[in-house]
Amino acid sequence: MTQSLTEREVWLHLKGVHKYYGDLHVLDSIDIVVHEEEIVTILGPSGCGKTTLLRILNGLIPHDAGDVLYKGEGVTGPRPEMAMVFQHFGLFPWKRLSQNIGYGLNLQGLSEEDIDELVDHYTWFIGPPKRWIQNIAYWLNLRRRSKEEIDKLVSHYTNLVGLEGFENNFPAELSGGMQQRAGLARALATQADVLLLDEPFGALDALTREQLQDELLKINEAEPKAMIFITHSIDEALLLGDRVLVMTPQPGEIRFEMETGFGRGRDLEAIRGSQRFQELRHYLWELLRNPGQMPDPLPEESELRGAAVNEGSGA
Ligand SMILES: Nc1ncnc2c1ncn2[C@@H]1O[C@H](COP(=O)(O)OP(=O)(O)O)[C@@H](O)[C@H]1O
Ligand SMILES: [Mg+2]
Repeated sequence: MTQSLTEREVWLHLKGVHKYYGDLHVLDSIDIVVHEEEIVTILGPSGCGKTTLLRILNGLIPHDAGDVLYKGEGVTGPRPEMAMVFQHFGLFPWKRLSQNIGYGLNLQGLSEEDIDELVDHYTWFIGPPKRWIQNIAYWLNLRRRSKEEIDKLVSHYTNLVGLEGFENNFPAELSGGMQQRAGLARALATQADVLLLDEPFGALDALTREQLQDELLKINEAEPKAMIFITHSIDEALLLGDRVLVMTPQPGEIRFEMETGFGRGRDLEAIRGSQRFQELRHYLWELLRNPGQMPDPLPEESELRGAAVNEGSGA
């Protein structure tokens, strides 16, 4: 297969999206396309609206202008096809690991108490308004699952993220890296097509972070998804992204975009040591450091632009 990812079907499409919080203009005419099973990383300074963008995509908050489309359909509330992974894990401290991982699945066949618990949790987590949060119940109820099915999925994803043996532990008994694996498993278990990851590895130590970057790509090879991965780290954006988007400070605009061209099945350690990686890293660093001016063109830029992102092509 040599089809470029950017030639595939469009799964997510944002067209001219604006967002205001009162007088504060947070997102300014955002255009983003994400194709089938493509990984798009977004780099941007703190406060430029990255979390807001993900919440809009996930249907948790409304946008003020433009279109947000999932496979051509307008997003008007949370959809089971998209799942979020949060920086601070968002695990329930009073639930065991297996209950946390099964949480999204149980929601897909919500009871009254579940709805109340969810609304309380998200109200705490993302703030008002509740109206939008309550939509979650509607979308998730569309996909009821049996207890057997939930148990099977929980066990599968517990193993996939390497947490077998910890099913009965509470989040406080797990390391940061393990908690983030649990957050990832919970999102994967919903069988979403699209993962929206909001700086998921930002709170981890450097070594754990590198391990999880590697594992995320391996998991994605086993069960491909489209991903939008938000990060502060230039290295992480380059290593994980098939494409990297760079946002401006407030109001957030997409300022620059490039295909990384490192291919699928990539060896992250080899990429870290490559000259190309150093060049791209320096380029992105200049872009973020001088928001008002474009850096000198990249060496071999035309080659980079034309690089097809081929499956299994290695680094
Ligand atoms: N619910 C809200 N009400 C008002 N302002 C908000 C709200 N959420 C975020 N903001 C503001 O919008 C801007 C973008 O926030 P956010 O999307 O969290 O940025 P990022 O994730 O890029 O750091 C910030 O200035 C933030 O203070
Ligand atoms: Mg944020």
